[in-house]
Amino acid sequence: MKFKIAKLPGDGIGPEIVEQAEKVIHAIGNKFNHQFSFEFGIVGAAAIDKVGDPYPEETHNICLNSDAVLFGAIGDPKYDNNPAAKVRPEQGLLEMRKKLQLYANIRPVSTFESLINKSPLRPELIEGADFMIIRELTGGIYYGELRGRTENGTKAFDTNVYSKEEIERVAKLAFSFAAKRRKKLTAIDKANVLATSRLWRETIQEMEKDYPDIEVDHMLVDNAAMQIIQWPKKFDVVVTENMFGDILTDEASVITGSLGLLPSASIGIHTSVFEPIHGSYPQAAGKDIANPIATILSAAMMFEYSLNLPEAGKTIRDAVAASLAEGFVTEDIASGQAYKTSQVGDWIAHWIEKN
Ligand code: IPM
Ligand code: MN
Repeated sequence: MKFKIAKLPGDGIGPEIVEQAEKVIHAIGNKFNHQFSFEFGIVGAAAIDKVGDPYPEETHNICLNSDAVLFGAIGDPKYDNNPAAKVRPEQGLLEMRKKLQLYANIRPVSTFESLINKSPLRPELIEGADFMIIRELTGGIYYGELRGRTENGTKAFDTNVYSKEEIERVAKLAFSFAAKRRKKLTAIDKANVLATSRLWRETIQEMEKDYPDIEVDHMLVDNAAMQIIQWPKKFDVVVTENMFGDILTDEASVITGSLGLLPSASIGIHTSVFEPIHGSYPQAAGKDIANPIATILSAAMMFEYSLNLPEAGKTIRDAVAASLAEGFVTEDIASGQAYKTSQVGDWIAHWIEKN
């Protein structure tokens, strides 16, 4: 088969890690006889520098015309301590999510046997943990239109808004994932305080009757933040609003031992976007030291969720597991010798072609 992939490497380490995923995708093409063409689009600080817009129309059209989008990272330190900056790279990401209607962000969390001692959490707590957080991605406080400052500038406000339809759409996806897994869904909110959360809870409670074999648990976000690291093994599928999901997914990454390992998929109406959950890591840009595994595993998710080639996804996972088991990894997780970003990419691509 022939597939069109939009390639948006973005800023910082984005280009080097996406390059490794591209090698891996070509290796899959050779092994399974598929063809992939990559169309490059600018995004983030790189796009602001070039055309003054972090998500230009041209990039949007490249995404719309693709079978899937492979995304690196965005962000540049020159914007971080400059609250006066008119456009920020992150706006590009938020605009892309909205325009492509990427309504659900899926972040799987599981441990690798060979890395069990890299997590600051005790091995017996995390061994075998395997869950996914499904974060609503196009609504909530990130997008509430009523926002700003009062006239004298001493008060600021953001608004959290959700419609029943938005909640149902993401919850439906969460129920369907739970049905394919261990049939447990944890819905996380702050229903003891927030009106939006009460609508979340009410909506999901109404949906429960349509999924009689799924056990649904409603949990307050503060309690969930504790339980996720104290008893990660009790979770299967988690669904929550945009802001809570942002915070809980970073927290959950601690379980795996390195932020450099966690992939994500953002499911959209027209196309879906696959990206590592870590950021642009500007200190490492151009040094060939960043861990490419999160991006390579994002490519595995792309094969499973968008291209309907689950076997290719599994092959990539097996190759990654082999590189971890053999210690052919970058410095962030190496116990002995550390390898370069490009070497790890070559190793994984080569493993795929010969196994
Ligand atoms: C993420 C990031 C973004 C978010 C930022 C960069 C806007 O933290 O993808 O989790 O908050 O959603
Ligand atoms: Mn985040």
